[in-house]
Amino acid sequence: MQESWRTAIARKKPSLPLRKILSLYGFPKTSIILDFGCGRGRDYQHLLALGYDAYGYDPHFQPVKPSNAFDIVLCTYVLNSREKEVEAEIIEEIKSFCRPKAEIYITVRSDLKSDTKTQRFVECPEGFEIRIKTKAFLTYHKVIS
Ligand SMILES: C[S@@+](CC[C@H](N)C(=O)[O-])C[C@H]1O[C@@H](n2cnc3c(N)ncnc32)[C@H](O)[C@@H]1O
Repeated sequence: MQESWRTAIARKKPSLPLRKILSLYGFPKTSIILDFGCGRGRDYQHLLALGYDAYGYDPHFQPVKPSNAFDIVLCTYVLNSREKEVEAEIIEEIKSFCRPKAEIYITVRSDLKSDTKTQRFVECPEGFEIRIKTKAFLTYHKVIS
């Protein structure tokens, strides 16, 4: 974890997964959105600029945990930067930020050859469906009951 923050790049524009999710699905304008593991914050700033009520949380860059419950939680390129052992714990924490019927979008990289970190979660754990698949990433989706 101590080193995971180093993987957060400075983005000049919003991430490709966010742009893809927005173009394919959009979100209701009234949505309250959390970017969990937001890194340097480019994606949630883009959502703010679009008029959404958006927040970022990142243990290194933005360590204050929001107290809100969210309609949508995005988690982009976080799990592939962490150890397999903490994956379930992170997913549970994501769920703790969700309102009933909230939507979670978890994106992991799929463009690396490594058979370790980046290839997991690809099996799509029970309850998640693969919503977007590209050469570069996979986005998993779940609606909280
Ligand atoms: C590859 S960066 C991705 C940042 C951002 N989502 C983006 O796409 O630009 C991975 C981020 O995950 C964060 N991270 C690591 N462990 C985390 C955890 N348990 N909960 C939330 N964020 C975490 C790191 O601090 C780091 O900023």
